[in-house]
Amino acid sequence: MPTKNTKSTAASAASRTPEAESALKELFIDELKDIYWAEKHLASALPKLLKGATSEDLKQTLTNHLEETKNHVARLENVFESLGGKASAKKCLAMEGLLNEATELLSDTDKGTEVRDVAIISAAQKVEHYEIASYGTLRTLAGTLGFSEAQSLLDETLAEEKNADQLLTQVAENYVNEAAASESE
Ligand SMILES: [Fe+2]
Repeated sequence: MPTKNTKSTAASAASRTPEAESALKELFIDELKDIYWAEKHLASALPKLLKGATSEDLKQTLTNHLEETKNHVARLENVFESLGGKASAKKCLAMEGLLNEATELLSDTDKGTEVRDVAIISAAQKVEHYEIASYGTLRTLAGTLGFSEAQSLLDETLAEEKNADQLLTQVAENYVNEAAASESE
């Protein structure tokens, strides 16, 4: 029996019509397909960024994230599986655009320069922020729809994306500190 407090739980399954429930599930699956495409595309594009990087710190961070990204692809396959389906991808125009911009930044900067590394960090952080937003929504939707296994898998990836973003910030901050130190020499 619904309580009077249904206003604050408008998103709960109890107060949702079957139509609304299935529309929400459709959106969830659609967003999953989107991020699945995005992760696969990122896994194929990261080696290019890695090749363009100069600082050892940045190379290491990108190498680690490439491995994580491959894992994210596999984990999404597990998410699809947990829902009783097979993984399928739908082109993610946002990730395509972000990675096109990254490629453009590589051609606009010279190899071996600090500015190229900073450009790569900037491009990689834009990608991370997109992923953080996507996984944040996905894990909430999974929770709302009662897909607890999917939710915990998505949570794992969300935590790794946040960590990757923080590591990139650290690499960027090291640059600023090094530049300041060399100026005061
Ligand atoms: Fe990822």
